[in-house]
Amino acid sequence: MSRISNRMKRRDDIHRLKTRPFTAETLKEFRVKQALRAEIDRSRRLARKDISSFRIFDVGCGAAQTIAYLRALGYDAWGGEASPQQFDLARQGLEGIGLDPSVVVLLDLSSGKYPVSDRSFDFVYSDNVLEHVENLESFVQEVDRLTRTGGRGIHIFPSRLKLIEAHVRMPFVHWTLNSSVRLALIRLSIAMGMDPLWKKTETMCPREAAKTYLQYLNDHTFYRPLSEIRLAFRRVGLGCDTRPTRDTIAQKPFLAPLFRIPVLPKLAEYLSVRFHTTILRTEKINNQPNNKA
Ligand SMILES: C[S@@+](CC[C@H](N)C(=O)[O-])C[C@H]1O[C@@H](n2cnc3c(N)ncnc32)[C@H](O)[C@@H]1O
Repeated sequence: MSRISNRMKRRDDIHRLKTRPFTAETLKEFRVKQALRAEIDRSRRLARKDISSFRIFDVGCGAAQTIAYLRALGYDAWGGEASPQQFDLARQGLEGIGLDPSVVVLLDLSSGKYPVSDRSFDFVYSDNVLEHVENLESFVQEVDRLTRTGGRGIHIFPSRLKLIEAHVRMPFVHWTLNSSVRLALIRLSIAMGMDPLWKKTETMCPREAAKTYLQYLNDHTFYRPLSEIRLAFRRVGLGCDTRPTRDTIAQKPFLAPLFRIPVLPKLAEYLSVRFHTTILRTEKINNQPNNKA
């Protein structure tokens, strides 16, 4: 398949997920990220709970395919959405495969809360959501409220200095907040053939398309340094760690010998967290907010 048709297929997949509910057919091809699966398994073992009583909450669950997948494994998986459109699609998808749609709830924008009880989940996670969160403080407070004492979680998101911005698939455009520089970088990327070819920009001239990508980045992405994100989690009393765990490494057996070389795990963590994807594991150590970083 050529690069262009690859890009069009990827675009069509994303467009389908944002506009149509998932189906039993699309779910067959769906795989949960290894890091997420490994951390759920590890946390459940540490909590000494069986699968059916292990309660999971997916913050920003999108179309809720992960929830359906985890439910098929037997987990008591729930999720929340901030977007009413995604919330409707998620519920339709779950209902379509015979699951209870009420396991997905809508964020109350005025309170920043989901209509679920305090400390009712063993594991609270988000996948590719944190880079879209404008109010970080409210987000971490809600993650903390949902997590039971001793509970854990994982937050997977593209790092601020990732070379290619994940949504518009252009290099460096999110490294700056300056709109003129961003627009120039976007135009340069388009001129070099790096147009993500969104459905909505298909019929636009390059100039108009560039403005659409710029507006999306400005309105819907909020990249932050990891130090700021860690501090926000720690302020509410959630411990943070970005080191790969034995379980994550065990999922990739070919990496195991490399990870026995002393500096390599640290180097791999540094490069990934800085320039690719951040995998931040959390643990609710106590009930009291602590202001220590
Ligand atoms: C890129 S999608 C990821 C969806 C899903 N987690 C996945 O991996 O397929 C980001 C989702 O986060 C949601 N979102 C953005 N800000 C949010 C917030 N503050 N709280 C909860 N969800 C949020 C958006 O509505 C969107 O559905």
